[in-house]
Amino acid sequence: MRVEEVTGPREAYLPLLKLADEGEAAVRNYLHDGRLYVARSGGEVLGAALYVPVDEETVELKNIALHEEARGVGTGRALIEDGIVRYTEMGFRRMIVGTANSSIGNLSFYQKCGFRMSHIRRGFFLSYPEPIWENGIRAFDMVMFERELHKSGLEEE
Ligand SMILES: CC(C)(COP(=O)(O)OP(=O)(O)OC[C@H]1O[C@@H](n2cnc3c(N)ncnc32)[C@H](O)[C@@H]1OP(=O)(O)O)[C@@H](O)C(=O)NCCC(=O)NCCS
Repeated sequence: MRVEEVTGPREAYLPLLKLADEGEAAVRNYLHDGRLYVARSGGEVLGAALYVPVDEETVELKNIALHEEARGVGTGRALIEDGIVRYTEMGFRRMIVGTANSSIGNLSFYQKCGFRMSHIRRGFFLSYPEPIWENGIRAFDMVMFERELHKSGLEEE
């Protein structure tokens, strides 16, 4: 698996990024922002991660999505670790990411990738045109996670 930055048009990655964010309008809002990295094996795209700086010290992982057949073998973690190295080298101090209160698997995934919960964006998903349900839970709130880039995310404060 290798990770490469996408320097050309990004439109072709919209269906992939929509696997992580049901709101197409929401994805379109940030599709052309920040940097987009793609994980490939041979010629095949496994998944992608899109990062957008919030300020000089903080970068947000806005979207990470793998094709279904590429999941569950460590590629998601490897893609995030690649981003951690790149943004640490660029001088950022922390990476943030958010997921819905209903995304039980993602709540586990980000913690296993060294992120810790920081705060809740209450009512975030109420602006989506259609209600989102996962695991029998309605998505209302965005749970925000943070990982320090200068030390292990698992270190005690
Ligand atoms: C979320 C996603 C990127 C994870 O990628 P992945 O390659 O499947 O995850 P990895 O194999 O690297 O898993 C890393 C760890 O997280 C755990 N994990 C990953 N997905 C999980 C899930 N749904 N439920 C519980 N644990 C999960 C793995 O078991 C592994 O734990 P381990 O260290 O104990 O082995 C991928 O499932 C995906 O693309 N999902 C659809 C899009 C999406 O929801 N994106 C996130 C939007 S917020």
